[in-house]
Amino acid sequence: MNWAKKTLAVATAATVLLAGAACGSTRSGSSSSSSTKKDAKDISVGISMPEQMLERWKKDGDNLKSALQKYGYKVTLQYADSKTDLQTSQIQNMANNNVDYVVIASIDGTSTGRAAEQAKQNGAKVIAYDRLIMNTDAVDYYATFNLEKVGKMQGQYIVDKLGVENGKKGPFNVELMAGSPTDNNAGIYFKGAWSVLGKYFKNGTFKSLSGKVPKSADDWQSIGIDNWDRNKAQAEMENRVNSFYNNGEHLDAVLAQNDAEAMGTVNAVKAAGWNYYPVITGQDAEQANIQAIAHGQQSMTVYKDTSKLAKATAEMIHDMAEGKKPSTDTSYNNGNKDVPTVSLKPVAVDKDNLKAVLVDSGYITAEKAGLTD
Ligand code: BGC
Repeated sequence: MNWAKKTLAVATAATVLLAGAACGSTRSGSSSSSSTKKDAKDISVGISMPEQMLERWKKDGDNLKSALQKYGYKVTLQYADSKTDLQTSQIQNMANNNVDYVVIASIDGTSTGRAAEQAKQNGAKVIAYDRLIMNTDAVDYYATFNLEKVGKMQGQYIVDKLGVENGKKGPFNVELMAGSPTDNNAGIYFKGAWSVLGKYFKNGTFKSLSGKVPKSADDWQSIGIDNWDRNKAQAEMENRVNSFYNNGEHLDAVLAQNDAEAMGTVNAVKAAGWNYYPVITGQDAEQANIQAIAHGQQSMTVYKDTSKLAKATAEMIHDMAEGKKPSTDTSYNNGNKDVPTVSLKPVAVDKDNLKAVLVDSGYITAEKAGLTD
């Protein structure tokens, strides 16, 4: 069976199951919204997280679970091991189990749409977490960080460190990587970075010896790293280093759009045996990357306090459970609709403010941050 037929068969089977479930069901949901408010203990929430390789998703899952449990809700938390099919079937199971709310951090925001629709048809409210679910009406709310701002912070950091706004002429060698081609966030992160960096590539202040520069921000997938995979980012940077920077050419900066790509880049530079590190950006404030910043290998990361994201998401669910409309501050368009969104503020962190932002706030200890080495 080819992919499309297989998906259709799964979807059809699930629809039959769902139709059966809906007939005998007395639960509240979109089709029977007049029913009385449920007790907290009768409310169930399914959380679908993409993977556990990055520290952040483990923290996201744990934080969200405990924030929801504090309200007394029943919570099912599942990780999909970066496999889109697995994530789809996990969400379908949640739908079949009649969860009241499903929170989805998609691996591929386009392919989770159908599973979200099944959950919705079965009466659940659907919340997209961190990453938007695309091309469907079945998303009720979205909770994320200001995505474009993240990319802008990374781009601006490179511009500041190379001093181009202070009269440094270059040309500087800057290599660019974007995130996973299947992640809607990745396009927005790149758009943010490109809004700062693009003009310097156009006027010749920045060059990329590998030539891997997209024609415009819309062409970001051409420099995407599948699944934001650290090993793939490392292999990509090793390739570029070996082919273009091993005859004394100086690599001035690397736009790495998250900490996995940043670590891949740090490893590639280590393998090259240079006596310097280029400016290397990142995102997520993973422990190993905080240490790399403390040790002068990575230059910066964008810290997104995911405990706040979990709290905001749990509050949305609590509001809905109490019959209130969750408050949102913006919206993101998913191709079908403007999804009401809570968007939190990211913070740029480098060696200078690492202690103040990450240690003094209790996010990490000075020892774990590598500040006592
Ligand atoms: C998230 C980042 C994360 C990346 C890889 C993005 O969608 O916003 O925080 O680093 O996915 O998991």
